[in-house]
Amino acid sequence: MGRFTEATAPSWVLTAADNIAKALDVARKDILDLAVTPPKPEMGDLAVPMFQYAKARKVAPPVIAKEIAPKAGGAGYAISAEGPYVNLRADRAALLEDVIGRVREAKDRFGHAAPDPEKTAAIDYSSPNIAKPLALHHLRSTMIGNAIARILRANGFTVYGINYVGDWGTQFGYMIAVHEHDAPEKFEKLTLDDFVKTYVSQRKLAETDPSVEEKARNAFLRLEQGDASARRVWEKARSASLAKFKQVYDMLGVEFQDDMYIGESFFSPMLDGVIQEAKQKGVAKEDQGAIIVDLSAHGIDTPALLQKSDGATLYATRDIASAKFRHDKLGGDRREWQCLYVVDQGQSLHFKQVFKVMELLGYPWADRLKHVPFGVMLVWSDEDQGWIKGKTRAGNVVLLEDVLNEATKRVVKIIDARNPELADKEATARAIGVGAVVFNDLKNKRTNDIKFKFEDALSLEGETGPYIHNALVRTKSILRKAARPVPSTYDVKLLSHAREGEIAVLLAGFKEAVARAGLEYDPSLICRFLLDLAGAFHAFHHDCLVLDDANKALSDARLVLVDCVRLVLENGMMLVGLQPIEAM
Ligand code: ARG
Repeated sequence: MGRFTEATAPSWVLTAADNIAKALDVARKDILDLAVTPPKPEMGDLAVPMFQYAKARKVAPPVIAKEIAPKAGGAGYAISAEGPYVNLRADRAALLEDVIGRVREAKDRFGHAAPDPEKTAAIDYSSPNIAKPLALHHLRSTMIGNAIARILRANGFTVYGINYVGDWGTQFGYMIAVHEHDAPEKFEKLTLDDFVKTYVSQRKLAETDPSVEEKARNAFLRLEQGDASARRVWEKARSASLAKFKQVYDMLGVEFQDDMYIGESFFSPMLDGVIQEAKQKGVAKEDQGAIIVDLSAHGIDTPALLQKSDGATLYATRDIASAKFRHDKLGGDRREWQCLYVVDQGQSLHFKQVFKVMELLGYPWADRLKHVPFGVMLVWSDEDQGWIKGKTRAGNVVLLEDVLNEATKRVVKIIDARNPELADKEATARAIGVGAVVFNDLKNKRTNDIKFKFEDALSLEGETGPYIHNALVRTKSILRKAARPVPSTYDVKLLSHAREGEIAVLLAGFKEAVARAGLEYDPSLICRFLLDLAGAFHAFHHDCLVLDDANKALSDARLVLVDCVRLVLENGMMLVGLQPIEAM
């Protein structure tokens, strides 16, 4: 796939692709699909390979390139043949003028598409289990989902961010059995921690004492039957957990609407209906007392289990009910509805099964359900001197909150050493520290496994959050030092330095990055863009003097450009959940 689509390519690219297409007598889209970024900047901004056209005409690719280049010239770009490629280079002044104008007009909507009522998306992300702590590995679903939600909004979608909390299951039996008889004062004060401890210790007891499990099973049965006393403990476990989750979401700048915490429990009254429907439609059958859907004819060897032989319903059954709900209530009446599940790749089979069952049940929108998987996160452990999967040697999970606090603490230390007078030190350190952890998570292709190590994530050099924050802070410091408003008029011809041209090319490609990140559900494309723009800005800052009293006109033009970089950095940062700051 090429770098540009017809909807998002900058106008000079469209013109050039048009002219090349005409010269070759093919469609513009074909040219856009083929176009690639040349390996070196001096080779131009875009290159169109001629191999496939050469083959069709039975001549060597360079011959076609030489023939096409002179025929496909136009306004706004230069064109040349370079071996088997036709190379394009945007005219810098025209591009700068165009893109600066558009950035200044659209401001914080630069790069965004207009809202489209037909585009709706239900996105399931974070979705932790109640009565378990938010562990470091929850970062991935939470932040990838948060970024995809923001990116799709920027692409014109109405987005429903759903937190499908795991708030149903036999584990609640243990907590009910223990806490149902707590004295009111004690009960009121129960926290997530207490419930976690109860569950862990009860499970331990159950290993040697079968009556513990028996009691828990009975308690859960009562919960399912709507018993008030059981329900009271369940509600407490749920609300104590959500209160804690929300604290951590706050630290991350993640927010779910209150009515979007639609967890597994919400669907438990609908499960009998699901099973009846699946039986009536001939999709499900009984198998040794259980109810299953045999999917072997559809290339899925493991049957989907809807009900166990003891009558308990399952994860899959709840997901079937919830998919219907999402379609019926969360935008499914719109033409471009999508229903995404941002869940780790370990659950691929589960989603394959659920989606296939929806299709077999005859829901024509089943093909809109998409699993958006991601790789695992490995954490560097000083203790083990190696990469671990989120559990310490002692078997404790690494808490997300602890990692965010530790990152912040380390940034405070760095600031204390570099800039102890900084105003807002705590808040700034938090934005940088949390941003570092988040950026580390998002910067690689979504499906890759990622590695987290404090020293690497917090480094000011390299592909890090702090590197992006540093670029942003530099733009702001220049704008502050100018001590005058950003000029409203400027002379674009003065922006003739190669570094300024590089920035123009990047800014002009932002919308494309946003569009593609939305199509591929991959925030790393925005991270890549931010790294490129930050890098180009650092280079510009190094090579070009902005504040120069001896040359006010040039200073004015450069201030305008710096302000555009600031704005687009901020826009990109918002999309991936990095919080802008003023200084560092
Ligand atoms: N609560 C599940 C877990 O922690 C994730 C839920 C994902 N969403 C879904 N619709 N199944 O593994």
